[in-house]
Amino acid sequence: MVLQDRVALVSGGGGEIGGGIALRFAAEGAAVMVCDVSLEKAQAIAQAIRDMGGKAAAHRVDASNPLDCEQAAAAAVSAFGKLDTLVNAAATVTPDGNVEKLDIDAWRRALDVNFTGVFLMCKYAMPHLRAAGGGAVVNIASSFAHFGLPGRSAYCSTKAAVIHFTQVLAIDYGPDNIRANTISPGPIDTERSLRRYGTREKANSVRGRGQVLGRTGTVEEVATAAAFLASHQASFITGTDLRVDGGQTAFKGDSLATSL
Ligand SMILES: NC(=O)c1ccc[n+]([C@@H]2O[C@H](COP(=O)([O-])OP(=O)(O)OC[C@H]3O[C@@H](n4cnc5c(N)ncnc54)[C@H](O)[C@@H]3O)[C@@H](O)[C@H]2O)c1
Repeated sequence: MVLQDRVALVSGGGGEIGGGIALRFAAEGAAVMVCDVSLEKAQAIAQAIRDMGGKAAAHRVDASNPLDCEQAAAAAVSAFGKLDTLVNAAATVTPDGNVEKLDIDAWRRALDVNFTGVFLMCKYAMPHLRAAGGGAVVNIASSFAHFGLPGRSAYCSTKAAVIHFTQVLAIDYGPDNIRANTISPGPIDTERSLRRYGTREKANSVRGRGQVLGRTGTVEEVATAAAFLASHQASFITGTDLRVDGGQTAFKGDSLATSL
């Protein structure tokens, strides 16, 4: 129970990794405000937490909308008395193609959700974390922040931006006892990969191929890292990026096969 008495807001909490993090945080003792652009998905995760005896509520948030983010942070405080932990896991489906093919509106939407969404949630959550006497931010980046993939400039660059943004956030808020870190997941076994590869078997065999550990990772493995970074166990860790990627970024092998 490393997050006993903590209150967390998880943006993208209706998704697979965000939902896994929300469930894990609740199991570790935190009350969780599950936020997602899909209220239905957020409600399903919040209900699952309550079914296991935990504390949770759901809120519809478009992470690119300033008012939504402000209201979500306030809703967490009004539901659970404070807010001391923020996880940003929301990401939109990003367009593929070289710069000539990329549509400007799709490009802007990718930046608005994947990057500006992180800025906005932090902007409105930080005053509450400071008021709580400190806390932790965990932003979900990607191994693709660390190397490029053909046609994936929108996804790769938004994720690289999240890492650099989080380093500066850590610097700005260290004096307030607020730590900020990123996680860079590698190929994780999720529906997102199913959409790209068709079947789970194909996704796992293509994406696991050539990896140091020879397999894709699990949502639980990312959630474990998030719980660690959010907890007092990581009390001297801030401004860093934790690669939960099975060695993907250490290995210059068949990394193209892991495109997500
Ligand atoms: N799955 C992987 O292998 C993998 C690898 C590296 C990084 N990631 C990152 O992990 C995070 C979660 O990915 P996932 O695989 O769980 O995907 P997912 O699609 O299951 O989760 C993303 C969630 O974000 C929500 N969302 C989309 N647009 C939003 C918006 N405007 N405002 C608020 N919420 C919005 C979606 O409804 C969804 O619930 C993402 O940031 C993704 O980039 C995933």
